[in-house]
Amino acid sequence: MSNLERNRTVDKDIYSNGNDSSFPKESHKKIISIIQKYLPLPTQVSILDVGCANGSFLLLLSKMLPNHDFQMTGIDLHPNLLEIAKKNINGIHTIISPIEELKSDIGLFDVITCLGTFSVFDDFKLPFTKLYNLMAKKGLLIIFTEFNEFPIDVIVRYKDAQNESAKFESGWNIFSKYSVEKILQDYPDLTYQWVDFKMPFSLKKQADHMRSWTIKTESDNFQQVNGAQQLVNQSILYLIKE
Ligand SMILES: C[S@@+](CC[C@H](N)C(=O)[O-])C[C@H]1O[C@@H](n2cnc3c(N)ncnc32)[C@H](O)[C@@H]1O
Repeated sequence: MSNLERNRTVDKDIYSNGNDSSFPKESHKKIISIIQKYLPLPTQVSILDVGCANGSFLLLLSKMLPNHDFQMTGIDLHPNLLEIAKKNINGIHTIISPIEELKSDIGLFDVITCLGTFSVFDDFKLPFTKLYNLMAKKGLLIIFTEFNEFPIDVIVRYKDAQNESAKFESGWNIFSKYSVEKILQDYPDLTYQWVDFKMPFSLKKQADHMRSWTIKTESDNFQQVNGAQQLVNQSILYLIKE
C-alpha cells in the first residue's frame, strides 16, 4: 500500500459536498428494502455503517424506516466527512479508522453495512473477518460492491494522468463471486444471498472521469461504466448469522 494514496481523491471530493438527501442513491433505497424485509427488526436496532462517508445512507435509513430506534455508528477514514455525518444525524457515534484496524471492542451490531467500499481492498478476507466479528447473533451484514460473475478476481490501480503529482489509487477492484463463496465456506453459521443491482435510469458523464455513468448496450439500457474503461456491475451480498 505504501506508494498508494489511501484517502482516495474521488471520495474526498464527492462526499464533502454536504449530504443531499433529496437525491438518494438507488442502491441505498434497494438495500434499505432488504433490511426492512429480511431482518425481523426489533424496535431498537444497532447499526454500523463502515465507509459511511458523509452518512447519507444512515440518514436515508432513518427517514425511510422512521418507526425504528436506530443506534447508529459510522466509520470512515475522513474526519471531515464524519463531521458532516454528525451535523446531519442526531446522536450518531463516529469512529475514524480504516476497517482493517477496527478493534472488536466497539460492540456487536444487529445490522452492519459496507457500501461501495470493498473495492479498495485487494483482499476480501481480512475486512470481511473484521465485519463478521462485529455481527450480533441473528445479525445482518450487507456488502455492496463490484462482484464478478466469472471466476476472475481483478485488482485495479488508477490515477489522474493530467495531475502530475497524483499517485496511483486503489478502488474498482472486483471480487469474483467464486472466491467470495469459497471464503464463506469457512463461516458455516452464515447464510447468504446475492442480489444483482441494475441502474434503473441513465446517469450522465460528469467532469470526474471516475464517477460512473451509463451507456446503452445490447443487454442493458443503463450499463454503468467508468473512466478506467470498466463495465461496472455491482451486487448486494447479504448475510445472516445464526
Ligand atoms: C465510494 S465511498 C462510499 C460511501 C458510502 N458508503 C455510500 O455508499 O455512499 C467509500 C467510502 O469508504 C471510505 N473508505 C475507504 N477505504 C476505507 C477503509 N479502509 N476503511 C474505512 N473506510 C474506508 C472512504 O473514505 C469513502 O468515504
